[in-house]
Amino acid sequence: MPETHLVTGGAGFVGSHLVLALLARGDRVVVLDDLSTGHAAAVPEGAVLITGRIGDPDALARAFAHGPFASVLHFAALSLVGDSMREPYRYLAENAKNGLALIEAAVAHGVTRFVLSSTAALFGAPTTIPIPEDEPIDPGSPYGESKAWLERALIWAERIHGLRSACLRYFNAAGADPGGRLGEDHRPETHLIPLVLDAAAGRRPPLTVFGDDYPTPDGTCIRDYIHVADLAEAHLLALEALTTRSVRYNLGNGTGYSVREVIATAERVTGRRVPHTVGPRRAGDPPVLVASSRRIREELGWAPRYPELETIIAHAWAWRQAHPDGYRQPR
Ligand code: UFG
Repeated sequence: MPETHLVTGGAGFVGSHLVLALLARGDRVVVLDDLSTGHAAAVPEGAVLITGRIGDPDALARAFAHGPFASVLHFAALSLVGDSMREPYRYLAENAKNGLALIEAAVAHGVTRFVLSSTAALFGAPTTIPIPEDEPIDPGSPYGESKAWLERALIWAERIHGLRSACLRYFNAAGADPGGRLGEDHRPETHLIPLVLDAAAGRRPPLTVFGDDYPTPDGTCIRDYIHVADLAEAHLLALEALTTRSVRYNLGNGTGYSVREVIATAERVTGRRVPHTVGPRRAGDPPVLVASSRRIREELGWAPRYPELETIIAHAWAWRQAHPDGYRQPR
């Protein structure tokens, strides 16, 4: 039986790929997005787009009028670690306020399944690497803290109202739809792989490597890059699990790559040099974030289809080559 889902932030990078996956299995999707960072052109054909803010009761009412919803999936949020160190109270307040308003509306409209886009930034100085779900939550940034608050709020929503939730902690979402329909287009772009690729293409100035004095083998930060299509697949499995219980999963490949390794891999994939210089550290960046995804592999049978960094970068490169202006039409 096809289901109808509400996806906030469905015009964004990870959200749009999940919308595509839901539509592909025959479900109906309503997207609520204020298009502050997302793009109307990223909302796959077949989904209904409601343009508006979660904090606007009228927009929320317009979205819920398309229900009843089998689930609410909440992607819309301020999501940059570095920005959150400069504007901590905006990050804490906005992410918490919008998340709580959405949880409350979901409960009021009888929704029983809620999926939260959570983050590796819950773990600021992890003691176990790869990081399992039982690692103590100790965010390294206000961004991570805001997601930790919402994970806690969802525990109360279940205790008091019976709302089941999946908190999916993405490590570094990257890549693009293997079919070339969607890709990554942030403005401004702050993420490593798109910046590396644009530097390789000569579309941006040389990349600045944020610090090479970290306690890692080559001195640059290590991250676990996970293909956005594999993240989308994990959401579909989590929705199944939510028919019986709430879940918390760390989502990554379990392999970390340093900034220098990402640059070297991108040079191999593109056949071009990536011009770069080394600058100071960026506040809030933990040296190493690598996920243990053993729990979701064992419990739900999730297995990434595109675990290789080469493939992740190749898909991102293919989309960028086909869409040098991203979702914006060239003038
Ligand atoms: N980096 C550079 N130069 C740049 C951009 C990034 O050296 O110009 C480095 C960063 O310092 C970091 C790594 O590349 O070490 C990855 O940085 P990103 O900005 O691509 O990603 P983050 O790890 O900061 O953050 C991302 C998401 C967060 C999420 C986090 C979880 O944006 O929402 O992954 O690991 F919380």
